[in-house]
Amino acid sequence: MTTRRQWLKSALAAGAGLPISLTLANDLMAAPVSEAERLHGIGPFINGKMVRLHSNENPYGPSAKARKAIAEVVADGNRYAHEVARELRYTIAEKEGVSPEHVLMGCGSSELLCLAGMTTGLEGGAILSAFPTFSLLMTYAEKFDARWDKVDLDANMTHNLEAMASAVKQDTKMVFVVNPNNPTGTVLDTDALKSFCVEMAKRATVFVDEAYIEFLEQPEKKSMVQLVKQGHNVIVSRTFSKVYGLAGMRVGYLIGPPDVLKKMGEKQFWGNNNQAGLAAANASLTDHDFVAFTRKKNAEALNYFSNYLKSKKLPHAKSYANVVFFPAPIDGKTILEQTEKRGYLIRVWDYADKEWCRVSIGTLDEMKGFVKAFDEVVS
Ligand SMILES: Cc1ncc(COP(=O)(O)O)c(C=O)c1O
Repeated sequence: MTTRRQWLKSALAAGAGLPISLTLANDLMAAPVSEAERLHGIGPFINGKMVRLHSNENPYGPSAKARKAIAEVVADGNRYAHEVARELRYTIAEKEGVSPEHVLMGCGSSELLCLAGMTTGLEGGAILSAFPTFSLLMTYAEKFDARWDKVDLDANMTHNLEAMASAVKQDTKMVFVVNPNNPTGTVLDTDALKSFCVEMAKRATVFVDEAYIEFLEQPEKKSMVQLVKQGHNVIVSRTFSKVYGLAGMRVGYLIGPPDVLKKMGEKQFWGNNNQAGLAAANASLTDHDFVAFTRKKNAEALNYFSNYLKSKKLPHAKSYANVVFFPAPIDGKTILEQTEKRGYLIRVWDYADKEWCRVSIGTLDEMKGFVKAFDEVVS
């Protein structure tokens, strides 16, 4: 009997079934990451009143410039957006200092993570990543029979690059790194990551997910795009969903070797970008004030929440993004139920035989409210 997986694989190989693949992507994005989430579910149907500390969104976006651009482009909503997408691709290429062939636009970076996972799976082989990390690429690849090899984070909750290098096998086709990492917010030393990528790229395609890189000062100096420019087999993904505050507008991109991106682009859904998202992304790209504003506000609220965790003696690695990961002080299912009852959505992960809370950083007021609610729940 044909299994669902075999059917999917052959359907996609034949160029059919893409709508199913997108549905799967959505399922995977919202997949439980712990037994507590399996029992409780992730987030209720939105009633508009919940404080969303479960998706690492930017509570300040879209920026005023992005909102204006969206309003102005509404009249073009009757037109396909191919040319506009192409223009943004050229603008991004110029900003990153690469050719337009080095850039692939996506419906958020999720679409591109899925394309990379699908391509690797269809070609056969394994993907190596740290754990815990943002798993969409690997869980999607598994649908296409790829194997996911995981290496635990080190004691500082950062990628253990040495252990990862030792875990590369004959059939490792892709090495996946998230920097800064989700769920921990931890960041890798730029030179160490660079050397790791250069070495690994001799053996497999290296995929560096930089969804949160703009939360760092001078992100261009810390980005692995420099390795793409030098011709290494490295792909970098970026998104407008985080610092730019456009998660619901769905725009992301890859920068990578043109031949590798071409292979992925051939499997891409037709018409994946929309007028409003492209206009908002284009306006945001040069909105340095908004990026600086987001960074500052995030740092304040992160600092407040981090101090709370310290006062409760809840250990957590220093986060450089808009998310914090710490051991759950009581059982995860109760935390999910009781924080939700008080109006807050967070995530609970299973890792190293323990339960962990992953809390996104909202506004300072949201974090103050959350601390009060969380304290009640866990005391
Ligand atoms: C590390 C990482 N990469 C990619 C994504 C996907 O973002 P998007 O599809 O909105 O670009 C997320 C979302 O939380 C993420 O944390």
